[in-house]
This record gives sequence, C-alpha cells and structure tokens, in this order.
Amino acid sequence: MAHLLQSFDPATGDPVWQGPVADAAMAAAAVARARAAAPGWARRPLDERVALAQAYGAVLDARREDLARLIARETGKLLWEARTEVTAMIGKVDISIRAQAERTGTSDSAQPFGRAVLRHHPHGVMAVLGPYNFPGHLPNGHIVPALIAGNTVVFKPSELTPGVGAAMVDAWHAAGLPGDVLQILQGGRDTGAALIEQDIDGLLFTGSANAGRHFRRAFVDRPGVILALELGGNNPLVAWDDATDPAILANLVVHSAFVTTGQRCSCARRLIVPEGTAGDALIAALVDLSARLPIGAGDDNAFMGPLISPRAADGARHALAGLVAAGARVLLDRSSVADRPEAFFGPVLLEATGVALPDAEIFAPVLSIVRVPDFTAAIAAANATAFGLSAGLLAGDPALWERFVSEVRAGVVNWNRPTTGAASAAPFGGLGESGNHRPSAYYAADYCAYPVASFEAPVLAPVPVPGLG
Ligand code: NAD
Ligand code: SIN
Repeated sequence: MAHLLQSFDPATGDPVWQGPVADAAMAAAAVARARAAAPGWARRPLDERVALAQAYGAVLDARREDLARLIARETGKLLWEARTEVTAMIGKVDISIRAQAERTGTSDSAQPFGRAVLRHHPHGVMAVLGPYNFPGHLPNGHIVPALIAGNTVVFKPSELTPGVGAAMVDAWHAAGLPGDVLQILQGGRDTGAALIEQDIDGLLFTGSANAGRHFRRAFVDRPGVILALELGGNNPLVAWDDATDPAILANLVVHSAFVTTGQRCSCARRLIVPEGTAGDALIAALVDLSARLPIGAGDDNAFMGPLISPRAADGARHALAGLVAAGARVLLDRSSVADRPEAFFGPVLLEATGVALPDAEIFAPVLSIVRVPDFTAAIAAANATAFGLSAGLLAGDPALWERFVSEVRAGVVNWNRPTTGAASAAPFGGLGESGNHRPSAYYAADYCAYPVASFEAPVLAPVPVPGLG
C-alpha cells in the first residue's frame, strides 16, 4: 500500500492535506507520459500555449482567496502575505510571456544568400522541485515559463506544502492544459530522487544550498540535462548612515531580516554597522522595534507567524545555541513565543563582532550584527561569504552606494530598500553557493529553451572557393 503524505498547519497543528506518496514506479510512469506528450506540446503554436497560460492566470484569479487561505494554513504565513504570493503568481503569467518574447523569441535578418534566423526550442521534459517557503510563487516561476516555451513538466512540491502544489496543478488543468503536459508527484526526497533519475532534460530547482550541491554532483555525468539551481544565501546588509533617524534604518532592517519570519532566501542574515555612536543608536532602535514586532497567525494583524514546522523551529533553536556557544552575544531572544505552539519563533538579534560564525544560512529570523571601523571593512565583511544571493546598503551618501554596488558580489544588490521582495520583472539568482549562474524570475525564459541559429538559403548555390576561378 502507498505511504501517506500529510501536511499540517504549523500555527495550530491541524491537518491540511493528505494523499499518497509517489514511488519510483510512479515517477518513471509520469516521466514516460511527459516524454510522450512533449513533441505534441512543443508543436502547438506559441499563441496557443500563451492562451493556456493566460487561462491558468484567470483560474488563479477566480480562486485567489481560497488559494491564499490554503497557503496561509499550510505554511503558517499571515493571510496578508499569502495574498501577496497569489498576486505574484498571477502576475508571473504576463511577465513570462513578455520575457519569452524578449529573451527567447525568434529573429530573422536578410542575408545576401537568403536569411539568418534565430529560433528557440524547448528542452523536452523538465523536473521541477519546489521549496516550502513560497510553495506557489517559486515553482510557478519555473513552471509557467517552462510550459510557455513548449516543455512538459513533472513537478514535485515540497513535502511540507503538498496541498498548495496540488491546487496549483489543478488550476492549470481547470484552464484546459492536457494532463500529461503538467503532472504532479507528491512525496519527499525519495520521490524527488526517483524523479531526477528518470530520462529528464532539465532540473529546475529552488531550495537549499545543500541540496543544490547534491544535484551538481548527481548530474556531473549528465551534461545534457540543464540544471537551474536557485539556492540560499548568507546575505549581508550594511547600515552606514548617521544622518537618518535610527528608527527608519531599523524599519528597513526588520523588513530585510524578519519578513516571512526569516524564511526568505533573500533575508538579511548579517547586519554590518559602524563602530561608534551611529551604530549604537541603530542597534538600540533595532532591539526596540524587534521586541515589539507583532507575532500571530491567519488573519491576525501581525508581522510574523510561525516557522514551517516544530522541527524547523527546533533546528533553528539548535543553530542559535551553536552561535551563542561560538561566542555570539544575545541582544534579543524571542525564539520561543509564550502561549504559542512550538513552531512559533520570533526575532533574535545577536552581536557577533570578532566571532568566527559559520558561513551558513539559518532559515529563521536570526540576525547577527557585526561592527566594523570603516566602509572598506564593511564591504570586506559583506563579501566574507561563499554565498552571493542578496545584499543591501542603507546609506544616504550616493558615493557609498556606487562603491557598494560595484564591489559587493551578489545577484541582488539594493540601496535603501530591504534585501527582500524580489521582482518577477528582473532576474533573480545568486553567485557562489547561491546558484549556478542560471538566474530565475525574468531570466527563467533563458533556461527553458535553447537557441538554434540558422543560415537559410532558398536556392542551392555554390559558395566561392578562393583560388579557383
Ligand atoms: P530543500 O532543499 O530542503 O527542498 C527543496 C525541494 O527539494 C523539496 O521538494 C525537497 O523534497 C527536494 N529535495 C531536497 N533534497 C533532495 C534530494 N537530495 N533529492 C531529491 N529531492 C530533494 O529546501 P526547503 O527547505 O524546502 O526550502 C528552503 C530553502 O530554499 C532555503 O535554503 C532557501 O534559501 C532556499 N530558497 C532559495 C530561493 C532562491 O530563489 N534562491 C528561493 C526560496 C528558497
Ligand atoms: C524567496 O525567493 O525566498 C523570496 C525572494 C523575495 O524576497 O521575494
């Protein structure tokens, strides 16, 4: 008998979804169906694929509130935030249509012999593995462009958010997409491992750096499979301003480090501030604001919710204990929330100057503060990581920004804005341990199709041979 997968609302422990786990035979059968469907789907005119994507967007729009409530229950996100996720999913359709046309469309130029044509072809069968933190928006960001480009897709959502994955695939089918063009497999790593062992042409992955490392190795002898790896970060935020109200700086830090309860790949994990009074004032304002941040669930008027599960909260508390044992000093610790289930984990602020912290992502609202003597040291501290996803500078001086944006290595570098809130209309991806140079969001079109350049001559004619008359 098939094993059962269940998901739970982390805010209450109530069950949300359950269904059978897909085994290796089901993964093989799904990929075989996707393979058989691929040529027909690729041959459908682009306009028809685009129309189906638009119909999918319309189904999402009609179901937006139900989907937002499901996201909120399955992830523990506040409802206001789950609604923004659904809006991003709907917006992805038009953005992906534009990106496909702009980045991987066709071009045609006249030549003396005929014409030079550029076309793009789909790869074939794409496997998509999704994370739990944006269970709709992030896999959607691979699936929409992959289908528009003419690929078929087999999607395995996170084992923590299977219900949202199922609802998203159901919306495509309700819009009229043939069943074999997009299929879903439910399960954990074993199901994911069974899927990627099949005859796939691409793996579009959003998740942890550890898993990304595993996939790089797993595919080293399969160069024909395109890998798009969107991974985590150990993101720096530098605050270098003594003229701005520290409360404003603290507000931008909080939106960088604690939004989505710290469960965004783009969250700031390290705050770099100057030694001296300006840094002292910012830290005091940050402790004050973070101590007051409202924590809640569902449609509460709150900023933060629980982590995805009690297990994730346990893991974060364990990692926090490790940082403290390494020498970090606790400035604020709300890692346990009174009268709330174990999955709730509030903001934590650590002072870690001179402490050799591990260069690792803690996927929770834990921010380590480092004091440095000058801006050169601030940039060096920002770059002291093997990751390179997002980075931010809070500073009024444009000259500092010019230095920062040219010297800091990351795929997203923001000025006086939070490190979070990636735009679908821009590329999103990181350097080093954060990715593999295949950014997603607007540039997802690039990894969903490959270019074919052709010289086309309507008439067979000889090409001159120098030296022969
Ligand atoms: P995860 O790596 O644990 O899992 C992601 C998906 O991959 C899940 O579906 C999981 O079942 C599957 N998986 C994991 N290991 C596997 C293996 N060895 N074989 C087959 N399948 C495997 O990630 P998560 O915990 O769900 O998500 C949080 C992580 O995702 C964080 O590290 C975060 O930074 C990262 N993330 C990155 C981005 C980005 O765009 N760069 C965006 C969001 C989240
Ligand atoms: C994420 O992909 O985890 C979030 C990116 C963002 O901040 O919007």
